[in-house]
Amino acid sequence: MRVALVGAGAIGRTHVDAVLHTGGVTLAGVADPFDAGAHLAAQSGAVHYRDHRALIDAERPDAAIIATPNELHVPQALDFVEAGIPVLVEKPIAGSLDEARRLVAASESRGVPVLVGHHRRYHPVMVRAKEIIASGELGRIVAASATYFLAKPDDYFDIPWHRTPGAGGTFLINLIHEIDLLRHLIGEVTAVSAMSSSAVRGLDVEDTGAVSFAFASGALGSLVISDAVAGPWSWDLTAGDSPRFPAHGVESHRIGGTEASLTVPTLELWRHDGPREWTTEMHPVRQHVAASSPYAEQLRHFADVVSGRAEPLVSGREGAQNLAVLDAIVTAAQTGATVEVIPV
Ligand SMILES: NC(=O)c1ccc[n+]([C@@H]2O[C@H](COP(=O)([O-])OP(=O)(O)OC[C@H]3O[C@@H](n4cnc5c(N)ncnc54)[C@H](O)[C@@H]3O)[C@@H](O)[C@H]2O)c1
Repeated sequence: MRVALVGAGAIGRTHVDAVLHTGGVTLAGVADPFDAGAHLAAQSGAVHYRDHRALIDAERPDAAIIATPNELHVPQALDFVEAGIPVLVEKPIAGSLDEARRLVAASESRGVPVLVGHHRRYHPVMVRAKEIIASGELGRIVAASATYFLAKPDDYFDIPWHRTPGAGGTFLINLIHEIDLLRHLIGEVTAVSAMSSSAVRGLDVEDTGAVSFAFASGALGSLVISDAVAGPWSWDLTAGDSPRFPAHGVESHRIGGTEASLTVPTLELWRHDGPREWTTEMHPVRQHVAASSPYAEQLRHFADVVSGRAEPLVSGREGAQNLAVLDAIVTAAQTGATVEVIPV
């Protein structure tokens, strides 16, 4: 698969690293109007383009990864889809749900796959967690609790879109991954309530939020999220996804069932030693999985989709449904109401 990269920033470099280390995949050019693109292209032996449309015309790649600021995802992805080229679009799929729907419609009507970069689903820990839940070992899923605590440096907010409402903020940048993880493990979210705060940094975008989820199965979930907390209890600081971040070996998610509970990403299965009631002691049994990079796994899956061997695990429609949940959370935080999530 000859795959092009659009957007040579932080996550774009992670994708190129995966491309350069994955057999059967080569880099078919880098598009970025700024010098970052020229540097990355030179480093990886690819041709640099300042505009993705010039790249499409010159390279006719088999596939493309779009890793640009959120508001560019849909217009750029549409250019590829209209040229018949499958795309992996970084999360969130779009800056707005209407735009997301436009991309889903174009992808489905033309039969050109769109994948969304919710890479956690490809992490071996998530694959195992999904298997454990599907096996019924936890019994009926009752509740989930999650934390996303980490501290972003002050200069992160020097990048204008990181502090722009509708583009930045920990809800749009980070919470969307949490939504995808919970939907993947527990099922469809039907309603949410939420509070948000920007008290720590005083920016126009939130730094902290508390969210409650209702799932179609009747399960409930809660999540506290903040990018201003000095603490390790977030997927990013525990799962070892990226060499940029230390992995601390603590849990970020607890999935509670009637028979047992599971921690993620630590994969501890907690069960009573005898009768399943509160006076019986419990012990964790740790599950082990072989390590592999979720970005590399995601890329291999993308290649399988492009060659017709697989259906997208995180399709445009899935990405749009994550955004629908996120929109409901934003509305809930603004109004104080419990907000129903409409299926895309
Ligand atoms: N999956 C993940 O874990 C993950 C992690 C980080 C970021 N992201 C997502 O990836 C996207 C990019 O985030 P980032 O942190 O890499 O941002 P970034 O600011 O580091 O990089 C964005 C890049 O896009 C380039 N760009 C701007 N306009 C362009 C255009 N018209 N054509 C081509 N390139 C253009 C910029 O020059 C820059 O190099 C965002 O949507 C973000 O939400 C996903």
